[in-house]
Amino acid sequence: MRSNYWQSWYGITTFGESHGKAVGVVLDDVIPGIRFPLTAIQDAVNRRKSAGKPGATSRHEADTVEVLSGVFEGKTTGTPICLLVQNTDAHPRDYQSLEEIFRPGHGDFSWFSKFKIFDHRGGGRASGRETLARVAAASLADSFLGAVSFHFATLRIGSYASSYQDAYTPNPLHWPDADTLPDVLQYLEELQSQGNSVGGIIQCVISGVPAGLGDPVFEKLEANLAKAVLSIGSIKGIEFGDGFALGALHGSQANDQMDDGGFLSNHNGGILGGISTGEKIVFRCVIKPTPSIGIPQRTANRQGDAVSIQINGRHDTCIIPRIIPVIEAMCKLVLADAIAHQRLISGESATLAQLRESIDKIDEDILMALYRRMQISAHIGALKAATGAPIFDGTREEMLFASLHEKARLLNLSPTTVEAIWHAILWESKAHQ
Ligand SMILES: Cc1cc2nc3c(=O)[nH]c(=O)nc-3n(C[C@H](O)[C@H](O)[C@H](O)COP(=O)(O)O)c2cc1C
Repeated sequence: MRSNYWQSWYGITTFGESHGKAVGVVLDDVIPGIRFPLTAIQDAVNRRKSAGKPGATSRHEADTVEVLSGVFEGKTTGTPICLLVQNTDAHPRDYQSLEEIFRPGHGDFSWFSKFKIFDHRGGGRASGRETLARVAAASLADSFLGAVSFHFATLRIGSYASSYQDAYTPNPLHWPDADTLPDVLQYLEELQSQGNSVGGIIQCVISGVPAGLGDPVFEKLEANLAKAVLSIGSIKGIEFGDGFALGALHGSQANDQMDDGGFLSNHNGGILGGISTGEKIVFRCVIKPTPSIGIPQRTANRQGDAVSIQINGRHDTCIIPRIIPVIEAMCKLVLADAIAHQRLISGESATLAQLRESIDKIDEDILMALYRRMQISAHIGALKAATGAPIFDGTREEMLFASLHEKARLLNLSPTTVEAIWHAILWESKAHQ
């Protein structure tokens, strides 16, 4: 499972830990000869930084993006691009006393349960610092996105709910309500002095997305955006359009009716049947309160003893101002991917190089699927050996080939060729059992 790799029209592998040497990203499928937007990348990374943001951590990193490879004289060379950002303001000693202790609300316990080893310094790779690499990578997508633009508004922070005002002045919290902004800022300061934290709800409106993006059934635009957004630490939920409120409506209220001018409403948030409608894409996501708090809490250590914990490191009181550039970055990656795919299937500007790139990606997917199949085959082999069941099951194979023949015919593929491929796969699987 390549879970640090984002499979897209350019492959992205992010790496690094919060208190390790550096965080970064390798982009391995970028088309050669395009201007490399280093200034735009640095600007995007700077927007994610903590400095000057209300309720943000006092860890101040320079976050200077270094280009290690793949760029020559300002242009991409078609070879892997490695972007690196050094961690210069890490204080691993802040975490020394926490080495054996699972921090509540963090991934410490679950990661340790999985890997049996855990870089406890600032949460290691589970840290929000990992998201820097995603922001850097997404800047490369800008050239694909044309007129697509993002508008964020914070709808809730703890007990404060915002309401839109015309006189909205941009602020790092994206709080759209000038009247209550000072109260919210004071609320954050109070929480910070109490060592406590708070969550919130962010609304994202994406304009300029053309109709026709997204691919049923497993690459639906809604599903891909949801996965991208939920892959960001501390985001616990997402809803599109009227979202959960749809559960209280009738069809007559919820349907987006049309006339000769187009849609008359947008209850579905700009996506229907997994494909963009050309209306604004609207979603809201919920950010949980920052888990590291300076208030004593009950937890357990690696030995299973009950212990008390109080976290004194540098933390965001509210993650919202830091997370908005990350949400934008993830959406950009998904949309650019969908646009690239749409161009390919519509034949629009599909060059031989782009078509070959798609074929190469499919071949790679097939190889990975084969690898996973072999792993599962090995488990089946071990189970059969343990229970004394025979390795060869003729009836199951017969059923498999009958079903493959049927599916091959439906897909207009040659059943004989498909059968030959599966014979080879089964042969390889048996070798792993
Ligand atoms: C940009 C960003 C900044 C974050 N800053 C902090 C922080 O300062 N302190 C903290 O405890 N968690 C912070 N988090 C949240 C943790 O990374 C996250 O809650 C933790 O890894 C557990 O993951 P989960 O909340 O998705 O279950 C941040 C997350 C992001 C995306």
